[in-house]
Amino acid sequence: MTSSIEVFCAEETGVINPNIYGHFIEHLGRCIYGGIFDEGSPLSDRRGFRVDVLDAVKAIRCPILRWPGGNFASNYHWEDGIGPRNSRPVRLDTAWNALDDNHFGTDEFIEYCKEIGTNPYICVNTGTGTLDEALRWVEYCNRDGDSTYAAKRSALGHSKPHQVRYWGIGNEIYGKWQHGHRTAVEYGRLAREWSHFMKVVDPHIRTVAVGANDPEWDLSVLRECGNEVDYLSIHIYVGGPEYLPTVAAAHYCEERLELLEHVIAVAESRLQRDAPIEIAFDEWNVWFRGTVENGLEESYALKDGLFAAGVFHAMHRHCRRVTMANLAQLVNVIGAIVSDESGTHITPQYLAFKLYANHFGSRALRLRTDSERFTLGHADGGATPRNSTPFLDASAALTDDRHTLTLAVINRCPDQPLHTRIHLRDAIVSGNALAWELNGLDGMSANTFHDPDAVNITEKPPFQLKEHHTFPAHSVTLIRVPVEVS
Ligand code: AHR
Ligand code: AHR
Repeated sequence: MTSSIEVFCAEETGVINPNIYGHFIEHLGRCIYGGIFDEGSPLSDRRGFRVDVLDAVKAIRCPILRWPGGNFASNYHWEDGIGPRNSRPVRLDTAWNALDDNHFGTDEFIEYCKEIGTNPYICVNTGTGTLDEALRWVEYCNRDGDSTYAAKRSALGHSKPHQVRYWGIGNEIYGKWQHGHRTAVEYGRLAREWSHFMKVVDPHIRTVAVGANDPEWDLSVLRECGNEVDYLSIHIYVGGPEYLPTVAAAHYCEERLELLEHVIAVAESRLQRDAPIEIAFDEWNVWFRGTVENGLEESYALKDGLFAAGVFHAMHRHCRRVTMANLAQLVNVIGAIVSDESGTHITPQYLAFKLYANHFGSRALRLRTDSERFTLGHADGGATPRNSTPFLDASAALTDDRHTLTLAVINRCPDQPLHTRIHLRDAIVSGNALAWELNGLDGMSANTFHDPDAVNITEKPPFQLKEHHTFPAHSVTLIRVPVEVS
């Protein structure tokens, strides 16, 4: 198949916020306990952090980490999780019907974020919790001085504030499965009040209101709290066992992000605010097999990595609004990293993060692509895009200094290479290109403990970028090439 890419190197369309490559950990199954935190394991350090998991997390340069849920957040009382570990209460979590000994709490979370060099993002309990409790949490984390909760943090050995900048006001309040399930208007009023007073405790925080991937909900919520909050969230889970519907689901996500942009623009026309409301895509992944019984553990294939890369491209194209995203979840639970008592292996989604978080540029460029497209029938599930999906999906950006062009190309075709004509406008290539390819034997290839590299990234030897380039079937290729932009 043939296709073409035209990159307009002098036409920047926005700055890609590194926070779109963020992650999420929840007290659920083996994500935290037995995942990132495994007290007593020979693979853990003295703090209880699994060192092999830490190493894997560090390699994807996680910019922001959401915690403690998810559904769990809506019945979590943070004060249970501070102070000497052995005196913390064992609580019944009624979101997932599980016990939590509270050994991983706020200070452990902050320590973990420091260790991996990431921004903490805390979701407060708007279900069984109170406003007072949320305000004290912000005080505990962010205030200096002698107020009771700031002093408590100091007394527990953290004299400097934790400086948590991002705060979510509840989780999926629109759903019947959520503690504190409310109507959009009820929730919007709550979010306005909570955000307002949380910002009294610390005016530097940024707050996230719960969006529902539903224009009616989103509009009503923003009508109530749009002057107070900084972000509206969206959660999307997609996919199934089949190749084409999964890779096309990235296109579905893009359609939903686009719709949300319009909804926010409508809401903003009636608000009194200068700064735009941003989009926090703070849960997204392929999720179809994992159940509560198996701890929401999935097994992922190359197709799921192609989906993740497609979501990145969608976010690049909408980078002016979509400024934060968090894959659900980081370890084991619909996880990017899989661990057991003996070690870890990584998934294709993880590899997509590795590729983009390490090598992709920040100044998004306009481009035009042309390739054959495919259409899915309705039987292909809820995440079917309304429009046809192109086999080739490309995204381009310059690095901060504008001296390097990065071009990422997904070939979604399951069985054919794409012979592609690449045309760079307003730039000349000034050196050899580097390229990395995410691929496997076929689109359903999967990593396991026995075969941990069935899907992997290969680095190509330096080469001269020519006008014609071939992208292999079911692959993602990221090219970096020095350029002079005119
Ligand atoms: O990520 C798993 C769950 O999915 C989260 O707890 C919830 O927010 C969503 O429904
Ligand atoms: O499994 C419970 C809930 O069902 C999840 O949190 C939600 O995403 C799903 O619809």
